[in-house]
Order: sequence, then structure tokens, then C-alpha cells
Amino acid sequence: MSLDPTMRATIILAAALHDVGKLTLPARLWTSSAPLPRRERCLAQRHSVRGHALLRDLDPPVAQLVADAALTHHEAWDGSGYPGGLCGTEIPLVGRMVGLCDVYSALREARPYKQSVSHADAVEMLTAPDPALRTHRGMFDPDLLSIFLAAGTQVQAAFESPPGDADGSWRHLMQTAVRGRAVCADRSTAV
Ligand SMILES: [Fe+2]
Repeated sequence: MSLDPTMRATIILAAALHDVGKLTLPARLWTSSAPLPRRERCLAQRHSVRGHALLRDLDPPVAQLVADAALTHHEAWDGSGYPGGLCGTEIPLVGRMVGLCDVYSALREARPYKQSVSHADAVEMLTAPDPALRTHRGMFDPDLLSIFLAAGTQVQAAFESPPGDADGSWRHLMQTAVRGRAVCADRSTAV
């Protein structure tokens, strides 16, 4: 995928800030070791709208992309995502990119309620045809998913190597998305 340097830098920024809305919500939502009850899950899902509200007043044109990523990184290609239930190319490209990296890295990370999985298992979960799974192939832009899977070695290295290689590649985007989510989860409101 070919992107000009300005667009690339903006997408990196969008990846870093995609979960910033979590800062406005209680920390318990991200630290629970049990599945959240429906009401709490709905509250947690508000982080995308809250993030958009925080970012939309940045200077354009950066604001549009960065705020779009915050708002749409949980939308799904098949319309099963949130908050808007957008389908296909209704979802901005930056939201599709950040969302894919976000899901991959979430699968690879240990959480209070689940263990981490290997790269191979994460790929299997990204591409499984069963729509009943929490993650499934239909969630993702098929062209973007193909590019992502073709870059499998880079993607795996991005997740498993220390940060610092700011080259704007998948590796950099992945590391930025991981750090952005971790920082926001750590600093969200302790209630
Ligand atoms: Fe998120």
C-alpha cells in the first residue's frame, strides 16, 4: 500500500490516539477479569464516540483522519461493528487500518480475562469463516486483510520486537496502536 509521507504520519498519529476516549471512562471497564455485563459493555463502547469528540476540533485536515480513526476503529466491514454499524467503504480507510491492527494486537496480548495467542493462532482467528466467533474474516476489508496477511512476518515482528523503529510501516503502525491503547487503558478514570 502506497501512502504519501503526510498521510502516513497522520495515520500513525491516528493509531496512537485511537483509544483516547477510554480516558473519559472508568478504569474498571478495561481491567475486569470477567466478561462485562451488557450495561458496562455499552458504556465501554462509548469510548469511540468520546474519542471522536475529543479529537474532532484539531486543526484540519489532520483532525478528520485522527477523529475518524477514534470513531470508526470498531466498525466492521460486514456492518456488525459499532457505533454506527457502517458497512464496507462507508468506514474510512484509516478506521479500517487501525481497527485491523487493533484486533490483531488485542488477540496477541494477555488480558485480565484471557491469555495471549500466537501469531499463527491470531491469523487463524482473523480469517476463520465462522461469523459466530468474536472475530471473523467478514469484519475486515478483504483487500486490506490480504495486504496484512501477506506482510505476516513484518506484522509478527512488529508485535514481538521493542518499539523504536519509526519507519511508518505496518510495524510502526502496530507498535503505535499497541502503545496508544495501553496508555489510555492505564490512565482511564479510576472509579
Ligand atoms: Fe477501541
